[in-house]
Amino acid sequence: MLQNVVFDAETIARRVRELGKEITDAYPEGELLVLGLLKGSFIFLGDLVRQIERPLQIDFLVASSYGTEKISSGNVRLLYDPVTRLEGKHILIVEDIIDTGKTLRVLLDLLSERAPSSIAVCALLDKELMADPPTEIRFVGFKAPKAFLVGYGLDHSEEYRHLPYIVDLD
Ligand code: PRP
Repeated sequence: MLQNVVFDAETIARRVRELGKEITDAYPEGELLVLGLLKGSFIFLGDLVRQIERPLQIDFLVASSYGTEKISSGNVRLLYDPVTRLEGKHILIVEDIIDTGKTLRVLLDLLSERAPSSIAVCALLDKELMADPPTEIRFVGFKAPKAFLVGYGLDHSEEYRHLPYIVDLD
């Protein structure tokens, strides 16, 4: 049962424009590779990259930890690894939501081994549950409530990803 709208489409669009400007202003010269973490980030990534006014490349990662459950299993699996070269590039990982942060920690460990010039994370939502969050989390859209959120890419059992706003499923 869908409950309250937590972030409406206009609020999301406004914040995504701001994030695009922050990212545009933050990066020096050099190659920027935006790595979208599928599936959850697909809508956010599509909107975000159109607000970044500098050259960039796009690739994707597929990791999964939730399966069909509403609670993170903690068992993060990498199902697709980007084929693009990471060495010497500025890597920007785009996440829809940081919940426990387990997915992100695994990815940061994995990708930092490939000698990128820098690694940063842009997350639309952060529940801020991590006691010691990685310094790589440089761009955050909104602090998220401790609810089960769906819409704008986020799912429950693969449903609701297409909603243009974010709602609380609890
Ligand atoms: C969700 C979400 C984040 C991750 C966050 O992905 O999209 O990527 O979990 O959880 P964590 O911070 O507790 O690790 P999921 O595994 O459900 O895959 P999906 O993106 O395909 O929905």
